[in-house]
Amino acid sequence: MSNTPLRVGIIGAGIGKSHAEGYAKQSRVQIAAIAGLDARVQTLAATYGARTYGEYAELLAQPDIDAVSICVPNGLHHEVTIAALKAGKHVLVEKPLARTPVEGEEMLAAAKSAGKILMISFNHRQRSDVQYIKQQIDSGRLGRIYYAKAYWMRRAGIPGINSWFVNKGMAGGGPLIDLGVHMLDITMFLMGEPTPVSVNAATYAEFGPRGQKGMNSVRTGASASYEVEDLATAMIRLQGGATVQLETSWATHGPNGDDFGLVLYGTEGGAELKVVNYRNVDTVRIFYDEKDGTPVDLHPKIPDGGGHGQVIDNFVRAVLDGAPAVPSAEDGLRRTQVIDACYRSSAEGREIRL
Ligand SMILES: NC(=O)c1ccc[n+]([C@@H]2O[C@H](COP(=O)([O-])OP(=O)(O)OC[C@H]3O[C@@H](n4cnc5c(N)ncnc54)[C@H](O)[C@@H]3O)[C@@H](O)[C@H]2O)c1
Repeated sequence: MSNTPLRVGIIGAGIGKSHAEGYAKQSRVQIAAIAGLDARVQTLAATYGARTYGEYAELLAQPDIDAVSICVPNGLHHEVTIAALKAGKHVLVEKPLARTPVEGEEMLAAAKSAGKILMISFNHRQRSDVQYIKQQIDSGRLGRIYYAKAYWMRRAGIPGINSWFVNKGMAGGGPLIDLGVHMLDITMFLMGEPTPVSVNAATYAEFGPRGQKGMNSVRTGASASYEVEDLATAMIRLQGGATVQLETSWATHGPNGDDFGLVLYGTEGGAELKVVNYRNVDTVRIFYDEKDGTPVDLHPKIPDGGGHGQVIDNFVRAVLDGAPAVPSAEDGLRRTQVIDACYRSSAEGREIRL
């Protein structure tokens, strides 16, 4: 371990703000620079006393930067990650890893040939309530999980109705690649990384093309038309016979405001994660039967925590201490393979085998 701080650069100042907050809590890190093409860069840099750059390449050309967080639109993850690795930086990239499996594979290969760390920001997996459920599963309390139902459903939450988010080339897709990737990640992590064998999916775009149900948020980029889905549903078959039902939307006439969660059905018990409008209290229930058959629901009081702060702690320890780089880029690639298959399944109207 050296006494020199790890000097990080953050590329992108939207969710990049959460990365900055995470790095600021790390005693061994200096936020050296922030890059981006919009005004939020200056505000963020002023908060942390960092230098500013416009185009990402300007930041990557700085020799004093050891590691970067890549927080740019999905369509730039591949290009910026490979450039950063070639420039000798360790990389923490936002989800989704990439738009396609080929892009993801090239990113992993670039990390390998550069001998640098490539990690992905699946911040929701790092939530304390998700980690609690994982401990319950690993202790054997739930038995074998044979079915999972996971969702992230919004009623009116298209992130930037004219932004890069709705441009197929820049985003790679709609809520499935944006929100569904988090839920797929949590589900596969909790189930112990079973191998997906096939997917059957359908997507819809009912509100976006009519310019309805946009979110009131600052997003960058521009899209002349609405090109992605606003709802997706998928059935994923796993090796060994378990299945996952995944549903996700940015816009519906439905009961959810902006809610995510899952139910895991196990042979000895079940677990529910339910996060309603980002409210982080009483999010978990565990279900099982007593020996006499009495059904019991546990409501564990889990302290709020984890998220981006934990992802960044993992990244810093991976770079400085050789700790495991988790969530891993390999996990990011596996999620991208499933999501890509879902889009193909929807387009072709049939089951796709992986
Ligand atoms: N993990 C999460 O909870 C979470 C939440 C939101 C977004 N994200 C992910 O973060 C990424 C960014 O999303 P966002 O909501 O912050 O988008 P955004 O539009 O708010 O911000 C994008 C940022 O990238 C910058 N940028 C674009 N092109 C650039 C270039 N060539 N060089 C330098 N900077 C450039 C923009 O100026 C802007 O600061 C996406 O991949 C998204 O999926 C993750």
